[in-house]
Amino acid sequence: MPEEPIAAVPLIDVCPLSDLPPGARVTLEHDLTDIVVVNCGGEILAIEDRCSHDDGPLGEGPLDVAACTLECPRHGSLFDLRTGRPRTLPAYQPVDTFPVVVDGDIIKLEVD
Ligand code: FES
Repeated sequence: MPEEPIAAVPLIDVCPLSDLPPGARVTLEHDLTDIVVVNCGGEILAIEDRCSHDDGPLGEGPLDVAACTLECPRHGSLFDLRTGRPRTLPAYQPVDTFPVVVDGDIIKLEVD
């Protein structure tokens, strides 16, 4: 029985890697989902730009590069950029994260 082809994961372009130095962030929208892409000390991470507590704009909050967290600007929950999980209350549900691919100098996100 022939193997089924593996479906390609859709990729969307974000920006050139050189446009996102350590500590920088960029926001974008894809399919009505707001996403913030962060250079956390050289590690490029992407997370939903929406707090799971009360829809706060995570991408506008303070970034802790050492811990790779964003702090929700509304009520202060800290979100782990690698997992999307909140580390502090009042948020207790995770938000989506997106795999990042660096293709040459272009940052891309896997979305589905
Ligand atoms: S909206 Fe983010 S902690 Fe309340």
